[in-house]
Amino acid sequence: MDYTKLGSTGLDISRLCLGCMTYGTPSRGNHAWTLDEEASRPILRRAVEAGINFFDTANVYSDGTSEEIVGRALKEYTRRDEVVIATKVHGRMRPGANGAGLSRKAIMTEIDASLARLGTDYVDLYQIHRFDHEVPIEETLEALHDVVKAGKARYIGASSMYAWQFATMLHASEANGWTRFVTMQDYLNLLYREEEREMLPLCAAEGIGVIPWSPLARGRLTRNWDDTTERSQTDEFGSTLYAHTADADRKVVEAVATIAAERGVPRAQVALAWVLAKPEVSAPIIGASKNTHLDDAIAALELGLTEGEIARMEAPYVPHAIVGFS
Ligand SMILES: NC(=O)c1ccc[n+]([C@@H]2O[C@H](COP(=O)([O-])OP(=O)(O)OC[C@H]3O[C@@H](n4cnc5c(N)ncnc54)[C@H](OP(=O)(O)O)[C@@H]3O)[C@@H](O)[C@H]2O)c1
Repeated sequence: MDYTKLGSTGLDISRLCLGCMTYGTPSRGNHAWTLDEEASRPILRRAVEAGINFFDTANVYSDGTSEEIVGRALKEYTRRDEVVIATKVHGRMRPGANGAGLSRKAIMTEIDASLARLGTDYVDLYQIHRFDHEVPIEETLEALHDVVKAGKARYIGASSMYAWQFATMLHASEANGWTRFVTMQDYLNLLYREEEREMLPLCAAEGIGVIPWSPLARGRLTRNWDDTTERSQTDEFGSTLYAHTADADRKVVEAVATIAAERGVPRAQVALAWVLAKPEVSAPIIGASKNTHLDDAIAALELGLTEGEIARMEAPYVPHAIVGFS
């Protein structure tokens, strides 16, 4: 396993972060395709054994059961002081008032609930899952600062939003002497490169570590365009991400397939190597529903694409409508 610093922090992370949205009780929450605890544990164990020390989950994943499964597994398979646990806040956890969002009240409630489910007294990275249009950013940022000062989180990060929103929040933290975001978890892969316009240059300029989600476009980059899997057929959120530019996207998938065939490696390795080659990226957040997915992700660290290969895979891309946040 390769290790790096997370953005401009001193925190050591593996160059792969294991995305734990895949692990959760299928009947809970809105991801019917997840693996239950029994099926999840061997993959989490394999990840630890392979040297992955960075794990990303969220309060909303499978209605909190992802955090529970991950917390129990990591306690058994690794040491708390070595592992880097990231979770998120913003999504709806309960119907009614104060059941979602980034108010001070919601953040204070949700960090304690996440810690209880994870079975730990701190998380390493506490991320806002989206921008909250209804809460003053100063309220959110001061609450996050207080979470850090209370020892419940080591660092804070943000996820998919407009670059101007992120820049405004970074500025407000500095102006008030509050803890600053150290990461941006955004949507970036060969089928969605809109973050190259504003977000990636902002993160480079500000020393923010980029940890992209769905680096394989939820599996679309790993197989023929028309092939499906159990997940792809029941992935409601995923179906909102890929509707608009099918012709160009299909050509990108074909270019990945061609280069993988030339190299004699699975397509997943090539597509992930493209994300890993971006200098702004600290670690992609990979999804693994089988141990072989971990093997390919690890192999991608050594693949090393040429400039020519990168250019061939990028050539068919056309601008996409913004997806993944509102
Ligand atoms: N911040 C956010 O808003 C946000 C949003 C989405 C995700 N995330 C984070 O990002 C993580 C990863 O998301 P993701 O699961 O969509 O990532 P992904 O890596 O783009 O997709 C993973 C899927 O690709 C397929 N796959 C992976 N490796 C493969 C291989 N070697 N060969 C063939 N197929 C392969 C599998 O699909 P099948 O299972 O269908 O075979 C797997 O479930 C999540 O767990 C979560 O932590 C965050």
